[in-house]
Order: sequence, then structure tokens, then C-alpha cells
Amino acid sequence: MWDLDEAELNRGMLNSQIDAAKADRNAKGQFSTPYDFACAIVRETLKMLQTTKSLDVLEPACGSGSFVSAVLRYLPKSKVTGIDIDGDYLSAAQDCFGQRVHFINTDYLSWKSANQFDLIVTNPPYVRHHFLGNEFKSKYLPELKKAVDGFSGLSDLYCYFLIKAMDDLKADGTAVWLIPEEFLSVNYGLAVKNYLLKTYSIPRIHVFSVEDTKFNDALVSSCVLWVKKKKSLEEAITYITFGKDIENPGLVVAKTKADMLKTRKLNLTLPCHEGISLKELFSIKRGIATGSNDFFIIDAARSEELSIPNEFLTAILPSARFVKTDRIEADSAGLPTNVNFKYLLDCRKTEEEVEKNYPSVWSYLQTGIHLKKDSYICKHRKIWYWQDKREAPLFFLTYMGRVNNSGKPFKFILNESEAIANNSFLMLYPTSLLAKLIGEKKISKYDLLDVLNNIPSDDMVAAGRKYGGGLIKVEPRELGNIFIKI
Ligand SMILES: C[S@@+](CC[C@H](N)C(=O)[O-])C[C@H]1O[C@@H](n2cnc3c(N)ncnc32)[C@H](O)[C@@H]1O
Repeated sequence: MWDLDEAELNRGMLNSQIDAAKADRNAKGQFSTPYDFACAIVRETLKMLQTTKSLDVLEPACGSGSFVSAVLRYLPKSKVTGIDIDGDYLSAAQDCFGQRVHFINTDYLSWKSANQFDLIVTNPPYVRHHFLGNEFKSKYLPELKKAVDGFSGLSDLYCYFLIKAMDDLKADGTAVWLIPEEFLSVNYGLAVKNYLLKTYSIPRIHVFSVEDTKFNDALVSSCVLWVKKKKSLEEAITYITFGKDIENPGLVVAKTKADMLKTRKLNLTLPCHEGISLKELFSIKRGIATGSNDFFIIDAARSEELSIPNEFLTAILPSARFVKTDRIEADSAGLPTNVNFKYLLDCRKTEEEVEKNYPSVWSYLQTGIHLKKDSYICKHRKIWYWQDKREAPLFFLTYMGRVNNSGKPFKFILNESEAIANNSFLMLYPTSLLAKLIGEKKISKYDLLDVLNNIPSDDMVAAGRKYGGGLIKVEPRELGNIFIKI
């Protein structure tokens, strides 16, 4: 007897075999949706539709049938049709679900349907316009340009699917698209989004965080777009949700139709319009606890006097009151040029090695040997003078301060040097999300510095702790919960 779990297992295996045998999946936009992800999208859709009755469902680019399988799981009584242009994937789908699903091996864009559907759900092919070719464009573009105001010849293939599918939906039917997040920010997406908004309704868009790309092999950030074939009223609301988990979104933003139409670029990789928490942008650590700043932090003159080799010296900021700038510049060796920095003695050699090969370091260490028992930190280290390994951060924060006349108890400092800092500073390292945004020039570190230094004191005070005498302190976890707008 046919069994869905078995069929799904088989589909996964067949899909991997076909993937491995194809060299041009990228050019053809052939990436199967992870099954649990397809299931989550179908479950969310059913919540929206508030139905479990049998529906007419179409998967217009079904591949091996990830969504087909998810629909069969949650709407077992539905009538499902699956289409794919690629005979290999389609016959895999046929093998697994052929008993329950009507499959058609054809080009969806030129397919004429005899009937319409309640639900269309898919991850369509993403193919950039320059791979579509002139023949394709002269076949489909003129009509689309007529129907959709501003439809661009630069549109990705999935945009053609989005428009065509509206003809195949019943009145009140719903189309659900897993598409690249860039749809919300590129110009060609704007024309399609506005057309769908004006002619029909977009009840919800879910945006995944950049880090959380759903496909192991296709480097795209994705969003899910729900389109309802129902004329939208002026007061229609689009809910925009964000986060890793589509079923428990971290942030929900409601936008009116007017708002949606007004916004040229719904650049929503970042929930920037509503704010993003610092913990999404940074991994935040306290600066290094040396065990004895007097002993381990020395200035350049002292290090020379003691003949400490450069390899054991790491540039480190002086105490916060001596750092007047909010941007630490550096020379070509990465040493700060505009603060009077010091050096951390950072020697990771065993005592035997130091004694044998580095006599000057050895004699200095002997002068601090008492720390081995007097300093809690030194006592608990594997080797009493080994410092934690720390990279230079992108920003420092002086995390203790008094609310003074200027009302600014804290200062963020952009670090362009290789210097680190001791634990009177917090150190902020970019998460992969922020690294990507900076790499793609969506944010500059200088603008970010301004934004950080404009965090209202009240926010910092509210996040942190207040001690007697107006002293405010903010710990890494507390800082991570502050939201900024970028
Ligand atoms: C991104 S894959 C996704 C497959 C499936 N929807 C899923 O979620 O796993 C897109 C699929 O679209 C198919 N495809 C590409 N062009 C097509 C077309 N013109 N008509 C129908 N299917 C097409 C590809 O063969 C591929 O299987």
C-alpha cells in the first residue's frame, strides 16, 4: 500500500541522485526546497486559509515534489496537480506520488489550464534575465508589459510565474511563493509587487534573516509571499514578519496598502524600519581580563627596556579616559596612530620554552611569579601568564559611565586597528549578517558608528544597571537587547 512517509523518503533520495547528475542546476534554477521547510510554509498557509477541506492545489514548478509531499501531508484529501519542465525531476515525483497526484511534464508558462485552483504553492525557478534569452523574452514580454504597468525586461523568471499564476487561481484563491528576498528591493520586483497589491492582495510577506538561507547549495536569502486573488481595499493590511522561524516570527510589522505602495524599496533584509537588536548585528564580549593590568599591560618604552620580542606584544587600549577619539586609526602594521596605546604581554609558550629560548621574557615573568597564587585569574589558568585569545573587534564600548551634563554615559569607538582592550571595555564583533551587509555596502561602518553613538542614553540606562552616584553599567547581554534603526 502507498505510504506518504515512504514516498517522501524515496523522493529525497531520488532528488539527491538527480541533483548530483546535473551540472547546470544553477542556470535552470533547480533547487529543491527542504521538506521540513515546505511543510512549515504549508502549515502557515493553512492557518491563514483557516481550512482543512479538500482543495484544488497546483504546484507549477514541482521538481521532485517537496511541496506536493507537504500538501499531501496536511491536506490529504486535496486534488493536486504538479507541473515541471524537467522530465528527470518530474518522473521522480511521478514515481513517488503518481498514485495521488496528476503530473504534467510541460513548460508552465505556456500551459493552458482547463480549470482553476484554490491554492498554488511553490518555490519557482529563479533565473536571471540574461539567461532567459531573446526568444523567451519576445514570446512572453510584450503581453506582460501590457498587463503589468512597468514590468521590466530585467525581471527574473520567477516574476513571470507570479503573474501567470494569477490566471490559474479561482476567485479568492491563494498563491504562495518562496522567492529570493531581493524581490522586495530590486526595481523589477517593484513593478510586480505594485501590480499584485493594486489588483489583488498581499496579506503577508515573511522575510528570513540573511544568515538563515534555506538552501545549502543556492546562495539566496529568501522570503515567502502570499497573494490572494481578491481585490484589495484601501485599508488592506500586509503583515510583514521576520525571522528564522516562519511559524514563530520574531517581529511583525503591519503596513497599509498605501504604505506598501509608497515604499519604493521594501529593503527588508533588515527589519530596519522597526529596528534591529544589537545582538543580531554583533557578538558582544567583555574585553580581556589580564589577571593583573599593572603586570601584563606595559607601554612601548617599558617593553623595549625589558627586550620583549614583538611576537609577544599585542596592542591594547589605555584606560577609557585616555581614549578621546571615537575612531581608532591605524598604521600599515595595524598599530593605533591616534591613541596612546599600550602592549599586552601575550606569550603562549610553555615555561620550559620561555626559560630556554626567551631569557628576557623569562626574567620579567619571574618578577610577577607571585601572581600565580595571588591573582585569581592567573591561578586558574592552565599556564598562569597565558592570556585569552582575542581578535580585534570592530567597535569598542566604554560600558560604564555616569550620566553627566552631556547626558552620554557611554561611547562607541570604531576600531580600524589590530588593538584589543581590557575589561573596562566591551568588544563588538560583527555577526555574519552584519559582515555581509558591510561587504555588500548596504551599511558603512562609519554610518553605523553614528547610529550607535546616537542610541538614546535612556535606552542604555533602561537596558543596563544603575548604581549609586548615577553610575550606569551595561553588560554584554543587556547591550545585545538594545534596538537600533539603520
Ligand atoms: C527552485 S526549483 C524548485 C522545485 C520545487 N518547487 C521545490 O520547491 O522543491 C524550480 C523548478 O522549476 C522547474 N522549472 C523551470 N522552468 C520551468 C518552467 N518553465 N515550467 C515548469 N517548471 C519549470 C525546474 O525544473 C525546477 O524543478
